[in-house]
Formats: sequence, C-alpha cells, structure tokens
Amino acid sequence: MNADKQLNFPPQFLWGCATSAHQIEGGLTNDWSEWEKSERRVKHLRQANLKPEDFVSGLAANSFVEQNADIACMKQLGLNAYRFSVDWSRIEPQPGIFDETALDTYLEFIKKLRAGGIEPLVTLWHWPVPLWARDLGGWQSAKIIEPFLRFTAKTVNYLNAEVNFWMTLNEPTVYTSQSYLAGVWPPQKKNLLAYYQVIGNLITAHRQAYDIIKTIDANNQIGIASHNIYFEARGNKLINRWLKAGADWWWNERFLNKIAAKQDFIGLNYYFHNLVHYGFNRRCDYDKCSDMGWGLHPEGIYYLLKDLQKYDKPVYITENGLADKGDQHRSWYIKEVLANVHRAIAEGVAVKGYFHWSLIDNFEWSHGFEPRFGLFEVDYQTFERRARPSAEFYADICRHNRLG
Ligand code: FCB
Repeated sequence: MNADKQLNFPPQFLWGCATSAHQIEGGLTNDWSEWEKSERRVKHLRQANLKPEDFVSGLAANSFVEQNADIACMKQLGLNAYRFSVDWSRIEPQPGIFDETALDTYLEFIKKLRAGGIEPLVTLWHWPVPLWARDLGGWQSAKIIEPFLRFTAKTVNYLNAEVNFWMTLNEPTVYTSQSYLAGVWPPQKKNLLAYYQVIGNLITAHRQAYDIIKTIDANNQIGIASHNIYFEARGNKLINRWLKAGADWWWNERFLNKIAAKQDFIGLNYYFHNLVHYGFNRRCDYDKCSDMGWGLHPEGIYYLLKDLQKYDKPVYITENGLADKGDQHRSWYIKEVLANVHRAIAEGVAVKGYFHWSLIDNFEWSHGFEPRFGLFEVDYQTFERRARPSAEFYADICRHNRLG
C-alpha cells in the first residue's frame, strides 16, 4: 500500500483519541478494583514472579483530577473529538442513589471539551460494574438490566445537553470471552452457559438503552464499540474460506446482527489479524510487533471496513493503537492504518472518524501498567504527561485533515 502521497480525509472527519474510566481516572471502587486485590489474583501474580502492587489500578493516571492536563494533551494534538467512558460505580455507588458531584465533574469536563471544539463520545459501560451490581450476579444475571437502564437514563438525562454520541457497550464479545469463557478477567468463569447468558443480557441491555437514549433526545447517535478481527483465509482455499466465514460470524458479526436495528453507527475497534490456514492464528512472523507481541497488520482494517459496509451505517474507528513504550512503530502504524482507512473511504465506506488508543498511558487491565499505549507518556509518580514523538506526527494529520 503506497502511503506516500497526500491523502485528504472528508470534511468534518472526527480526529480523536480514546480512553476508558477504569484505565485512567483512578480512585474507583468496582468489581475490577476489588478483583485486582483479591487473594486469588495476588496468589496468581506471585506465582508468576510478578509484584501484585504493579497490577492494581489505584490512582491510574489520576485523570478524574487531571482533567485540564488531559485536555491540554488533546489541544496539543489538535483533536476535534474524544471518546471516554463514565464509570457506573462512581455515578451510582449505591443502588438507585446517584452521586451528583460525580455527574457534575463529568459535565464540567464535557463542557470544557466543547469549549475547546472537541466533540465528546461517551461510553456508558467499559467493563467494570459497581460492587452491588456484581453482587446481583453481574452481567450473568438478568437482574442487572433494570439497574443498568436506570443508570443509563440518569446519566444521559444529566449530560444530554452537551453530548450527541453515546456508546452503550465497549467490546461485549471481548469482555464476555475473557470473563466468562477464558476465565482470566473477573469474575474468572469458564462456563459456556454463563457466556451465553451474559451475551443475551448485554444484547437486551443495549436494545433497551437505545430506546431510552432516543426517547430522551431523538437526535442522539447511538452505537457500541465492536472489537473485530481480520480473519484472512490463506490461499483462497475452500476450507480456509469456510473457517473464516464461521469466525467472521461468531466473532465479528453475531452481536452486531442482533442489535442491527438499534444502532445509528458502528464503532470499530481494530487490533488483530488472524491468518486462517487449516486452523486459526497460523502466522506469527510479523515484521513488526507491539510490546505485547501483538503482530501489526495495518491492512486488516481495510478489509474489516469493507465488511461493515453491509450494515449501511456510518462507521467510526473507536479504537486502534499499540503498546509501544519506545515509540518505535507508532507513527508508522498510524500512517499505514490511515492509508488503509482512506482506501476504504475512497471505495465508498462511510468512515466518519478515527480515535487512536490511546491519548495517554493507562492501566491495561490484567496486564497492569507495563504496556504503554499513550501518544503521551504518563509519569505515574507525578502524573505529568509528556508527548512521545508520534504525538507530533498524529497532530499533523489531525490539524490538516490529511495524511502526508
Ligand atoms: C481494547 C479495550 C481497551 C484497551 C485496548 C488496548 O480491547 O477496549 O480498553 O485495553 O484494548
């Protein structure tokens, strides 16, 4: 793919970054924060010769306090959009009891974004749940749906005057697989029945939340962030194509199909390529890899965008990025990914925005603080944000609405 010539993006294209509450805000008490300190988790980390304290989100990047520092980073990049999440446990610490001071802090933050010409995309659920919702059975229990809708109604009513874009759920398939099939994230289950119950409850929650958010304001644009993997069938062999079709359905499309009538846009999170050749994951010789060993395959996003065309909805790339502490590959990766996004747009895919993961370094779930995804480095002692060289590279694209 030749990314050397100048590539202009459509007018009003949203150039953003993405983050989530639990990964940057700090000071949260929810099912994740408790799990990070649980006996089972601590034991597991010690057995792997790791220090449990390095895997506790704690103050994270202190973003709930450092709003202005984060906005300064966005301005330095010239962003016109920002995707972030609110934390349910912060807003509704006890069932039905809302913390209006927390809501006011979010509102104030959003107003500052708007004043800076930055369009907010608000995610309502980016994985953790309040302890009381966990105790109801978490997402495995249908009892969580009504409280989730109550939280949705309260939050959307509170912030609606300043927000046009709402994302109900982040990566429901990743969460459900990691938490209920693979057993690596809380509540660490390995149970197919539980997995199906969770998926079912998330689908119901999304559909009903959609109606609530639309009733509050018919102009609201609503979607989810879907983590899609580019399954590439090697050599066009029938068996590989067949396996690919199954994987596309199971991983990329099943959830989106179930909510197809209740979404105004599609949020695409892109991180992975998977070569299919009489089985899955048949390639491990990527030219470039992230610090987490994730093979970098920028062309994959082109094929995924083309596949999403069938939904006939605007697409926002709501996450894409890499752990790269030394900033060796980030600029290259952004450039190649965007060249592929541009190619999809040129072929008619309605891509309306790109959100890089991430604005700043953050707490990477079960991997702790080691992976560095930020365009800005965070010093976890002082909470100072420092631009990596790729921040300048991305800023140039955002400011000119063009690559090259
Ligand atoms: C995505 C998650 C996000 C972040 C990135 C690296 O799957 O949505 O929170 O952890 O991966």
